[in-house]
This record gives sequence, C-alpha cells and structure tokens, in this order.
Amino acid sequence: MAKQRVFSGLRPTAESPHLGNWLGALNQWVNLQDEYDCFFSIVDWHALTTSYDDTTALRENTLGAAINFLSAGLDPKKSPIFVQSHVPEHVELHILLSMITPISWLERCPTYKDQMIQLGKEGKDLSTYGFLGYPVLMASDILIYKASVVPVGEDQAPHLELAREIARRFNYLYGKVFPEPQIRLSEVPMLPGIDGRKMSKSYGNFITMSAETEEIKEKVRLMITDPQRIRKTDPGNPDICVVYAFQKIFNSEETSKIEQSCRSGEIGCVECKRILIEKMDQRLTPIREKRKELANNPGLVEDILADGAARAREVARQTLEEVKEKMGLLMPKE
Ligand code: TRP
Repeated sequence: MAKQRVFSGLRPTAESPHLGNWLGALNQWVNLQDEYDCFFSIVDWHALTTSYDDTTALRENTLGAAINFLSAGLDPKKSPIFVQSHVPEHVELHILLSMITPISWLERCPTYKDQMIQLGKEGKDLSTYGFLGYPVLMASDILIYKASVVPVGEDQAPHLELAREIARRFNYLYGKVFPEPQIRLSEVPMLPGIDGRKMSKSYGNFITMSAETEEIKEKVRLMITDPQRIRKTDPGNPDICVVYAFQKIFNSEETSKIEQSCRSGEIGCVECKRILIEKMDQRLTPIREKRKELANNPGLVEDILADGAARAREVARQTLEEVKEKMGLLMPKE
C-alpha cells in the first residue's frame, strides 16, 4: 500500500528551538519519516506576511532553520527538505485557489483578527493583501503535494479547516483533485520549563535542543522537584516534579522504576537528576554535534536544500498541470 503523504512547514528561525518546541514539531516529524511519505519546508513567504518590514535576518534565519531541521534528525534522503520560495509552483497554485476563496472565509479566520490586533499593538500594520491570504498560501503548500496528513500544533487548526474548505470547493467546481488534509496533533505530553511553568523563551526557563553538556547539568540541577520532600527518605510525588516529566521523555525505559523508588523514598532527587543529565546528554549530543558540523559547512546545507526543492518541484509541477487542466486553462504548446 502506498504511504500516506505528509506535509509540514515552519517559519524560518535560526535560533535553536527549545525542547518543548522540538518535541512538538521537529522530533515529531523525525518520527513520521519512515511511516509516511514526507515533505518538510521552511516557509519563508509566510515569514514575509508578518515580517515584510524587516528582512535583514531572513536569509540567515532560513539557512539556520535548515540546520535545525537536519540536526534534529530529519533525513533528506527520506524526506525532501526545502525552502518554500524555491518551489514557485506554490505561488501559482496560490493565485488559482485565491480565485475561489471568499474573502469572508479569510476575514472570519480567528488567527487573522487575533494577530492583527496583537501585532498591531506593536505598531505593525497587517492590513495587507498578503497577510489576508496567509491561509490560502498555507493551503497551497499542503494541497500542491496532495498531502492528507499535516502535523502541526493546535494553533494551526483553523488554517487546516480552511485548507479543507478550499479543497472541497475546488473539487466541487472542477472535479476531484485534492484530498482533504487532516491535522495530526502531537501525542507527546507538554514539557514544563525548569521552573514548572510552560517552557518558553520569554520565561527564561527553557533548555534548547543543542544545549551544551554544562548547560544541561546546570539547568537540571535548577529544576524544581516535589517541594514537600525535604529529606531523601521522604516519599516523593513525581506528578508535581519537573525532573520526572523529563524522565518520561528522555528515560522512558526507566520511568516506572524511578516513579516507584521516588514514591517509596528510595531514590533521592540528586541521584534522579544525575540519571536524567546522563540520558539527556546522550540524546542531545548527536543533535549538538550535527548542528556544529552543518554550521561549518553552509555549502552542504544549500546543496541539500537544492536537492529537496528539485524533488518537491517534480511533484508540485504534476499537481499544477492537473489543476490547470481541470480549471480549463489553455496549456502552452510543448
Ligand atoms: N502557519 C504555520 C505556522 O505558523 C506554518 C506553515 C505554513 C505550515 N505552511 C504550512 C504548516 C503548511 C503546515 C503546513 O506554524
């Protein structure tokens, strides 16, 4: 049986993602690579919809994002990894889909008004044609590969809903071309920050996926544990312990053993943290090393992106031919 097609994209950022974001996005994608036929893109046009007024870091962020994708373990031999603007077919589909997308659908999209207000407070004018069309562009990204599965966060659900409505309308008007893409939410539990709040760059309670060994040690030592537990022999409550939340992710084989010995007061927090540090370092060392290797070899990253775009274009071109044919456009003479 043919594998189902997956498409997902991230806006370009050169910063190393924190572990919460890594688990929610890149690490999920890595886990989908074998079971699905995947396409992963760095969506630079989407970045322009909101950051059109300052593009000084765009190029660097795009290349940096590619380094993040690859160091997290995405394998460009299995899944094409490419920059959105290197596949101009997305734009051609975007304009065709824009013909059949009512403006009211876009104005009604909750992310449209929210962001307009939110970023408006910072003085940004988002009353642009491009920003209104954000979901149409996103639908084009997905539909041009006829992807049926889209791994993204809950915040993207309204965009996926719109992508399905656009696909349905196209299929109804011109004949079936597109599957209706479904959102695939991440199954992993939310990772707290080292202080127990949501992990976030703005709270300063995060660890990045490329953290150095010393930094891992320091931050794990700072992690809050069960505050009721004073002496090592006191029974602990793993349910309210940040270290335990991390053990579940980085040391799943030993999680139940650790849970029991914490509850019975056999293992102390210091020992528990020592084990976690070791496991996290084991898991993150290859990511950190790959990141350094690629950062020193931007030419290689660009080659990988060129190959990804070429493979993506082949698929995209075929869909576009079919779309134009169904829409009744005169095809140019060969
Ligand atoms: N809007 C998505 C985000 O901000 C990024 C994105 C653009 C995307 N095109 C996509 C995600 C297509 C999935 C599929 O996270």
